[in-house]
Amino acid sequence: MKSTLTVAAFAASASAALYNISPDNHTCVLQPQYLSCSAKANPKTVDTCCTETFGGLLLATQFWDTWADKELPENTWTLHGLWPDFCNGSYTQYCDLSRQYDPVPSPNTTNGLPNGTFVPAYNGSNIGTFVEKLGRYDLLAWMNKYWISQTGPNADFWGHEFSKHATCFSTFDIPCYGPNYQQHEEVVDFFETTIGYYKKFPTFQWLQQYGITPSNSTQYNFIDIQDALSAQHGAVPYLGCSGPRYNETTAGRNSRTNDTGRTVLSEVWYNMHVLGRPQDYHYVPVDSPAISGCSNATGAIWYYEQTAADASPVHWNITSNVTTYEY
Ligand SMILES: *[C@@H]1O[C@H](CO)[C@@H](O)[C@H](O)[C@H]1NC(C)=O
Ligand SMILES: *[C@@H]1O[C@H](CO)[C@@H](O)[C@H](O)[C@H]1NC(C)=O
Ligand SMILES: *[C@@H]1O[C@H](CO)[C@@H](O)[C@H](O)[C@H]1NC(C)=O
Ligand SMILES: *[C@@H]1O[C@H](CO)[C@@H](O)[C@H](O)[C@H]1NC(C)=O
Ligand SMILES: *[C@@H]1O[C@H](CO)[C@@H](O)[C@H](O)[C@H]1NC(C)=O
Ligand SMILES: *[C@@H]1O[C@H](CO)[C@@H](O)[C@H](O)[C@H]1NC(C)=O
Ligand SMILES: *[C@@H]1O[C@H](CO)[C@@H](O)[C@H](O)[C@H]1NC(C)=O
Ligand SMILES: *[C@@H]1O[C@H](CO)[C@@H](O)[C@H](O)[C@H]1NC(C)=O
Ligand SMILES: *[C@@H]1O[C@H](CO)[C@@H](O)[C@H](O)[C@H]1NC(C)=O
Ligand SMILES: *[C@@H]1O[C@H](CO)[C@@H](O)[C@H](O)[C@H]1NC(C)=O
Ligand SMILES: *[C@@H]1O[C@H](CO)[C@@H](O)[C@H](O)[C@H]1NC(C)=O
Repeated sequence: MKSTLTVAAFAASASAALYNISPDNHTCVLQPQYLSCSAKANPKTVDTCCTETFGGLLLATQFWDTWADKELPENTWTLHGLWPDFCNGSYTQYCDLSRQYDPVPSPNTTNGLPNGTFVPAYNGSNIGTFVEKLGRYDLLAWMNKYWISQTGPNADFWGHEFSKHATCFSTFDIPCYGPNYQQHEEVVDFFETTIGYYKKFPTFQWLQQYGITPSNSTQYNFIDIQDALSAQHGAVPYLGCSGPRYNETTAGRNSRTNDTGRTVLSEVWYNMHVLGRPQDYHYVPVDSPAISGCSNATGAIWYYEQTAADASPVHWNITSNVTTYEY
């Protein structure tokens, strides 16, 4: 789903830390903190562990799914990830192949082009076992409820999110954790931080407060959904839609508009800059530079109800272990 923006053609060295970072303790409370994407957020002059200098435009992303091959939590969107885009809206991915935990890398090169560095498929113990080894069973249980992959193992999805995106933050780099670093500590830190932002953006309730609730009989105006979320986030988020294009629906065919936007609400991306470490949640909402592909025709958007629990395919057995990610 990130095809709306270009992937920066340059690939980071893709095999180690983003910068040569000192082995100091990086006690950020002792450092000045700057807003990411501001002129002061210069990796040459600040502690890159304490101000985000690599991917300064953060996106807190969520899904609205109506079915999954596992139980969906009720009355809430689910967690997708926390992404560090460049300040100009483009992005890179898989920035540290020494922390490659994604069993199905997508794309399979660091820049998405055939001439990029190949990203090898991970075949070790899944990333959920890192959380177990650090004893964080409460975290794992929460993740299995709210950070779910629509199909396939949740942990594969978490591994994808971590290795594709988290490795491109300067502030989650291993040397930032100082000399007492415990293996995979930054993985847990990234998961916790991502969850913290997810909790700050309660999409389901935000829409509900504006009278927008899931319905299989009433359709909504794109602009009403966007306005409701913008009012509460403080900036315009990106909305993602799937399903048929408006021009392929009966209403669309009969209309005089040539609207080719899609009609089923399925994603939201909240954009922000952060002051200091993302872990500290001091953020400034910013408008999304990405253009929505949703239809903006009147009454074109479905915000579908979830599949009723007794009809859900929770009891289906997964017959394929192949998962493809577009995000
Ligand atoms: C950094 O932390 C280590 C381990 O806790 C400690 O031994 C060392 O003195 C600290 N260094 C500084 C400069 O504070
Ligand atoms: C966006 O910023 C990145 C990082 O600074 C840079 O590598 C890339 O070339 C920029 N892209 C555009 C289109 O300016
Ligand atoms: C992955 O890389 C291989 C070898 O470079 C290529 O043949 C294949 O098409 C790529 N697959 C995807 C999904 O990009
Ligand atoms: C990689 O391929 C892209 C697109 O085909 C091209 O623009 C770029 O110059 C190539 N880079 C290298 C290093 O060959
Ligand atoms: C597992 O991945 C490693 C690193 O990419 C590779 O060297 C190894 O051959 C893989 N093992 C199997 C059984 O695929
Ligand atoms: C709807 O628009 C898309 C994108 O322009 C086009 O490919 C498709 O043929 C159109 N479908 C109909 C039924 O007009
Ligand atoms: C829709 O497309 C048709 C055919 O290209 C064109 O004649 C018509 O003016 C367009 N309508 C609008 C509202 O853009
Ligand atoms: C509605 O969508 C069309 C095409 O998707 C776009 O050209 C147009 O600018 C949009 N209008 C508004 C008011 O956003
Ligand atoms: C509502 O419609 C969606 C999309 O067709 C479907 O997946 C879901 O099961 C439906 N929910 C109910 C309660 O009928
Ligand atoms: C799913 O797999 C389990 C264990 O292999 C088996 O007992 C069960 O009958 C299967 N269920 C279905 C619906 O195939
Ligand atoms: C599951 O993965 C294994 C190992 O990658 C592969 O050999 C097998 O064909 C896959 N099964 C299915 C149903 O895709």
